[in-house]
Amino acid sequence: MPRPEAPAQPGPELRRRYTAADVGVFTPGEARRFVPGGNGDPHDDVDLAWELLYRLEPELYDRLATAERLHPGVISWLPRDVGRIAEVGAGSGRLTMELTGRGRRIVAVEPALPLRRVLRQKVAAAGHADRVEVIPGFFDELPLTDDSADLVVTCSAFTPAPEHGGEAGLAEMERVARPAGLVVIIWPNHLDWLAARGYRYVSFPGPMSVHFGSPHEAVELAGIFYPRAAAEIRRRGSAEVPFEVLGINPPRDLAFRVLPG
Ligand SMILES: C[S@@+](CC[C@H](N)C(=O)[O-])C[C@H]1O[C@@H](n2cnc3c(N)ncnc32)[C@H](O)[C@@H]1O
Repeated sequence: MPRPEAPAQPGPELRRRYTAADVGVFTPGEARRFVPGGNGDPHDDVDLAWELLYRLEPELYDRLATAERLHPGVISWLPRDVGRIAEVGAGSGRLTMELTGRGRRIVAVEPALPLRRVLRQKVAAAGHADRVEVIPGFFDELPLTDDSADLVVTCSAFTPAPEHGGEAGLAEMERVARPAGLVVIIWPNHLDWLAARGYRYVSFPGPMSVHFGSPHEAVELAGIFYPRAAAEIRRRGSAEVPFEVLGINPPRDLAFRVLPG
C-alpha cells in the first residue's frame, strides 16, 4: 500500500479557540469517548479541539469541509444504484450529499447534534428527506441492525483510536454490512493498520485544490486550519489553493473490504 503523507495538524490556532470549560458541551456518551479522564484541555489536545469545533462552531466546520471537495474519482468508484447505504461520522454531509446519487435509502450516523442539524437542513433543502435518515451514534456502538446495509462508508472520520472507531468501530461497520457487502473508508490514515485487517487501497491521481468561497475566505480559514500556509495564501490572493500549498494529503483515496458472502 502506498503511504500518503500524514496530514498536517492545525496548530495552536484551533486549539486556542476553546478552553477546558467548553468540554461541558459533551453528552455523557461523548465525554466518555473524548475526555475519558473527565478533565480534557483542548489547548493540549488537537483531537479534542476538533470535537469542540463540531459542537460549538458547526458552520465553521461546514465551510472548511465544503471547500475541501472529494476527488470525483472517489465518488465514481462507489457502487451505483445501491439499496441501503449506512454512513458513519457523516458530519455536515460532504459525502452524504454525494451518496444521494448512489443509494436509494441512506442512514447517516453522526454523534454531534449541531452537525446533524446542519446535515438535516441540507438533506431537506435538496428534497431527500424521505430517503435520508440522520441519526445519532458512534462507530463502536452503531444503532443499526446486523446485515442492514449493502454499503457501509465513512469519510475523514475513522481512525484506529478507540474514540474514533478502533477495532470495535471496524467490527461494528462490518457487522452492519450484509454478507458480500462493502465497507469503505474514504480519506484514510493508518493504511498499514487497515491493510493488516484485509483492506485494499485505491488512490486517484491528478492535481487537487481546495475551493474556498472567496480569496477572503481562503485567508480567514487558513488562519485557523492551515496557519503555516496562511502567508502564502494571502500572497496568492486566490480562492483556489492547491493542496501542496496547504501541506496536507488531498481527499483522493479510499480503503475498502468486500465481506465474505
Ligand atoms: C473530520 S469530520 C468528517 C465529517 C464528514 N464525514 C466529512 O467528510 O466532512 C469527523 C466526523 O467524525 C465524527 N466522529 C468523531 N468521533 C466519532 C465516533 N466515535 N463515531 C462516529 N463519528 C465520530 C465527528 O463528529 C465528525 O462529524
